[in-house]
Amino acid sequence: MVDWRRAAALFVLFSAAVEVVESESKYWSAYPQQRQDVLNGHSLNGQYREFAKSEDAGLFTEIFNLATKAVIHANASCGEDGPESYCKLVEHVYMRMPQCDVCDQNLVEKSHPIQNAIDGTNRWWQSPSLSKGLHNEWITITLDLRQHYQVAYVIVKSAIAPRPGTWVLERSLDNVEYKPWQYFVTEDLECMRYFGIPATTGVPRFKTDDEVICTSFFSKLDPIENGEVHTSLVNGRPGITGPSEALQNFTRARYVRLRLQKLRTLNADLMIISRRVNTTSRIDQSVTRRYFYAIKDISIGGQCICYGHAERCPSDPVTGQLRCECRHNTCGESCDRCCPLFNQLPWRQGTNTENNVCQG
Ligand SMILES: *[C@@H]1O[C@H](CO)[C@@H](O)[C@H](O)[C@H]1NC(C)=O
Ligand SMILES: *[C@@H]1O[C@H](CO)[C@@H](O)[C@H](O)[C@H]1NC(C)=O
Ligand SMILES: *[C@@H]1O[C@H](CO)[C@@H](O)[C@H](O)[C@H]1NC(C)=O
Repeated sequence: MVDWRRAAALFVLFSAAVEVVESESKYWSAYPQQRQDVLNGHSLNGQYREFAKSEDAGLFTEIFNLATKAVIHANASCGEDGPESYCKLVEHVYMRMPQCDVCDQNLVEKSHPIQNAIDGTNRWWQSPSLSKGLHNEWITITLDLRQHYQVAYVIVKSAIAPRPGTWVLERSLDNVEYKPWQYFVTEDLECMRYFGIPATTGVPRFKTDDEVICTSFFSKLDPIENGEVHTSLVNGRPGITGPSEALQNFTRARYVRLRLQKLRTLNADLMIISRRVNTTSRIDQSVTRRYFYAIKDISIGGQCICYGHAERCPSDPVTGQLRCECRHNTCGESCDRCCPLFNQLPWRQGTNTENNVCQG
């Protein structure tokens, strides 16, 4: 059980109105301290005093960036098999002076491992470009959060390339069965063609707590660098105030996966790439080496699962796992039962309005 009102407000702070996310620097200039906190992976809960705690309400743990503690993996990175040259995509013909560089895993300043996406720096992960083969459009990034959490939002920030075009954000409890959280497409038509559901146009909105939407809103070519994808899993869903069991189930995850399937390309280049008859030709290389994914940050906002009965979940000195500091006479890993001798009433989770203390 999670106090989603705080998660919702936090997400709004992160992304402002979804429409203005493009002007990131302008937005953050209004919140310099918060930006620093986010970069440092600190919680922002202190900012949310408007949700004054009622004596009778449940207790909730902080929302923090779970990605900073995650184990992350990508199945391809630029420069893994030795030096690889790439060029930045430049939109206007008159600016098409090549801006090229080299990836090389063996040189610290030229390497772009996936760990760069969660280290809080401006360094970035970069995929092999299409000049290394068209299969490099299909890349899977997996984050293991090391335990179950309630996830409230996922924010992906691009670096020196456009945002991914077509991809799926997925969740799993066991790293075997994955379920989609949201589909992203280059154009609305792809929603039906690839994922079998109609596109949601404009700013994402939800009819049910576990609705999976498909949107082209975050796959625009513009901005060509440093674009962001802001995905709230709770904002705008009907069960947010409950919160409902369906929403708790929908947001629960240990593994988070980004299945990238298609790069965002300039229309003129699409032809050349798809007609790619001869990968070794020079003209082809000059186009394909400009196409790759570049991600500088993946943030996953979430909190411990303590069912409204803990305010803190410090890390266990032995295992490193975060453990709920159970109150209200509750026990168990997630404060999910009443302690011995406090079983006068059946266990219930703390909610936004009721603390549901176990009674002795
Ligand atoms: C990465 O893994 C996915 C899923 O197994 C696979 O479809 C894709 O081809 C792989 N990509 C590369 C570049 O190896
Ligand atoms: C939530 O998940 C639990 C465990 O998988 C399941 O038993 C329950 O029916 C689910 N509830 C809803 C509303 O989806
Ligand atoms: C690809 O280009 C090279 C060099 O221009 C040429 O020798 C080769 O025959 C071409 N291959 C195909 C399949 O067109």
